[in-house]
Amino acid sequence: MHVVVTRLRDLLARDGAARFLVPNPDLGDGRYPGEETSVGKHRPYSVWVDLADRLECRFLTPVSHGDFVELRFDLVERTSRDRSAGRYGALSDFQRVDKLEDPLFLDDMLEALHRVPLASGARVLHLGVNGGRELALLDLAFPDRAFDVVAVDVDDSALELARRRFPQHAFRVLNVNDLPDETLGTFDLVVALSVLQSPGVDTDRVFRVLLRDHLKPSGSVILGFPNCRYLGGEVSYGARLLNFRKPDLSLLVKDVALVRRHLQKHGFRVYVTGKYEVLVTGVNVKSTA
Ligand SMILES: C[S@@+](CC[C@H](N)C(=O)[O-])C[C@H]1O[C@@H](n2cnc3c(N)ncnc32)[C@H](O)[C@@H]1O
Repeated sequence: MHVVVTRLRDLLARDGAARFLVPNPDLGDGRYPGEETSVGKHRPYSVWVDLADRLECRFLTPVSHGDFVELRFDLVERTSRDRSAGRYGALSDFQRVDKLEDPLFLDDMLEALHRVPLASGARVLHLGVNGGRELALLDLAFPDRAFDVVAVDVDDSALELARRRFPQHAFRVLNVNDLPDETLGTFDLVVALSVLQSPGVDTDRVFRVLLRDHLKPSGSVILGFPNCRYLGGEVSYGARLLNFRKPDLSLLVKDVALVRRHLQKHGFRVYVTGKYEVLVTGVNVKSTA
């Protein structure tokens, strides 16, 4: 594999694209990556898709050639982001991201929600809700229940989209750094997806305030930490530190460990799941007793 990667990096640097023949992965059914077949080393498609991602390439539809397939990697063009519409506002590129199109996020979030015992009428707080797409998860997880949902964000233009999508819920412009806010009250579930690590947010303080002031004694939390970025419309694995091109999970691991430890210390049952978004679910054992 080392030879393949080195060769592909050279080709991509020179041509911006690479076309190469590999043994048809379908013929290696049951083999481990790198095991020999009669036509060469077997490698499943998942290996090639991972490699395309690491090399910042789009993985195009392979072309069949008998026992081989031609793989086609195209370097994704890096476009500088137009920040005039704000990073997360109604007119920003972020509005094109629909996380519910990520099957792993969808599955992991539904699993997390099903772990939290939420009765009809339960109070749910979403922090950093943006355009509100994530609120659809509540209906998907509990189609026959209605909740009292309050969702907040600093960006009012994004909240306006959320208000239109979910007129039955309450939305407020609020900076999470200004919590606690006694007018919000307490909740059976607090959801914070990709917001606690936002620039300027004091992750540790906001998290502790949430638990202390905005969670009912039997309340639970679902906290999401991003572990990806978007490149040319496609999700690319791995959290990045500022100005780093390759993934480095240091900050992610630090924050996940911090909230996990704190939740466990306070008697929550904790689950850590997810791939492109790492989810920490803290289920209050009092609510399941
Ligand atoms: C990466 S987006 C995540 C949006 C959504 N939760 C999701 O997972 O797709 C981060 C959101 O947090 C909001 N945000 C950033 N800093 C915030 C703060 N201090 N208080 C409240 N919201 C904030 C942004 O406006 C944005 O809508």
